[in-house]
Amino acid sequence: MAKLLVTGGSGFIGSNFIRYWQARHAQDELVNLDLLTYAASGDDAPSNGARSKLRLIKGDIADPATVRRAMKGVKAVVHFAAETHVDRSIQNSQIFLKTNVLGTHTLLEAARQNGIQKFVYISTDEVYGSIEKGSFTEYSQLRPNSPYAASKASGDLICRSYWVTHNLPVMVTRCCNNYGPYQFPEKVIPLFITNLIEGKKVPLYGDGMNVREWIHALDHARAIERVMEAGEPGEIYNIGTGQEIPNVELAGKILKALGKGGESIERVKDRPGHDFRYSLDSSKLKKLGWSPEIEFEKGLKDTIGWYRTHESWWKKIKGKGAFKTYIKKQYAGRAR
Ligand code: NAD
Ligand code: TYD
Repeated sequence: MAKLLVTGGSGFIGSNFIRYWQARHAQDELVNLDLLTYAASGDDAPSNGARSKLRLIKGDIADPATVRRAMKGVKAVVHFAAETHVDRSIQNSQIFLKTNVLGTHTLLEAARQNGIQKFVYISTDEVYGSIEKGSFTEYSQLRPNSPYAASKASGDLICRSYWVTHNLPVMVTRCCNNYGPYQFPEKVIPLFITNLIEGKKVPLYGDGMNVREWIHALDHARAIERVMEAGEPGEIYNIGTGQEIPNVELAGKILKALGKGGESIERVKDRPGHDFRYSLDSSKLKKLGWSPEIEFEKGLKDTIGWYRTHESWWKKIKGKGAFKTYIKKQYAGRAR
C-alpha cells in the first residue's frame, strides 16, 4: 500500500489515470491536488467519494504551503497539472509559465524536502518541436515552438536538474496526442465530435495536412504505470503508438462516423507556429514491456460513442459564457 499524489487529477488524462489506478491498485491512497481551473472535468471529476481512498485538495501547485500539505505522507508523485491548450498559450501565455514552470518547480522543491521516492513528470512530445521525417528519440534536441511547448520543456528541464543536482528520483514521460472520454471540448477530437452532434461545422486549420500521433488516454495510463514499476530514476520515456494521422484524414473519420460529409468542414486560417508533424520513437519504453492496446479506429469509435452518451457533460461546458468567449476569440473571422 502506498500513498500517491496526483496533480491535475480532475483534468482529462489525470482523471482517466486515477480511475485506472483505483481499479488496479485498490489499496493505494490517492491525493488529487487540482486547482479546478476551467479545464477540470467538472461533476464527473474524481472526488472524495464514499468508497474511495481518494482525497481532493483544491489548490495551486505553485503555492508552496498547499503543496507541502498535499505531500504529507506521500511516497510517489505523478504530476499532470498544467495549462495545456496551445491555442490559449498563443492568446496569452503568462499562466502557462506560472503553472507549468513555477508550479513544477514548487512541486520538485517540496518533493526534495519530503524525500519523495518517485516523481513522474508528465511531459509531452511537443517539447521536441516538429519533425518532417523519422521520429524523435529521448536524445533528440528540444526545440519547442509554442509558448505551451516551451513551458512544458522548461518544466521538463528543471526536473532533470533536480535529478542531477539533488538526486531526486525523477522520471519524465513524453507522450503523443491523447484522446478518449472526458477530454475538454477545446481540443480537436472532442471539439469536432461535439460540433457535429450540434449540427455545426468543424474548423480545420490551414491545409489540414499537419500530422499528429494519437494515443488513447487509457494506454497512456498503462504506460505511466509501467514507468512507475520499471522505469529508472533520471530517465526519460517517450510514449507513442505509431498511429499518425493528418488532420484532414482525422476530420474525415469523425465526419463519416457521424454521418456527415465534407460540407461540414470549415477551412480556417492556420495556427501561428503550427507544428507540422509529431512522431515518437517509443522503443525505450517498449523494452520495459509496454505497448499500446487500443487501436485508433476502435478507440475513436468508442470515444464518439462516449460523447454521444454524455451530452449533458459537454453541453454544460460548451454553454458556459467563458467557453463561448474563448471560441469566438479563437475562430471568429478566421474563415479562409
Ligand atoms: P487538462 O487541461 O485536461 O487538465 C489539466 C488539469 O490541471 C485540470 O484539472 C486543471 O484544473 C489542473 N490545473 C491547472 N492548473 C493548475 C494549478 N496551477 N494547480 C493545480 N492544478 C491545476 O490537461 P490534460 O490534457 O489532461 O493533460 C495533462 C498533462 O498531460 C499535462 O501536463 C499535459 O501537458 C500532458 N500531456 C497532454 C497531452 C494531451 O494530448 N492532452 C499529451 C501529452 C502530454
Ligand atoms: P490540439 O487538439 O489543439 O492538440 P495539439 O495542438 O496539442 O496537437 O490540435 C491537434 C491538431 O488539430 C493540431 O494540428 C491543430 C489542429 N486543430 C484544427 O485543425 N482545428 C481546431 O479547431 C483545433 C483545436 C486543432
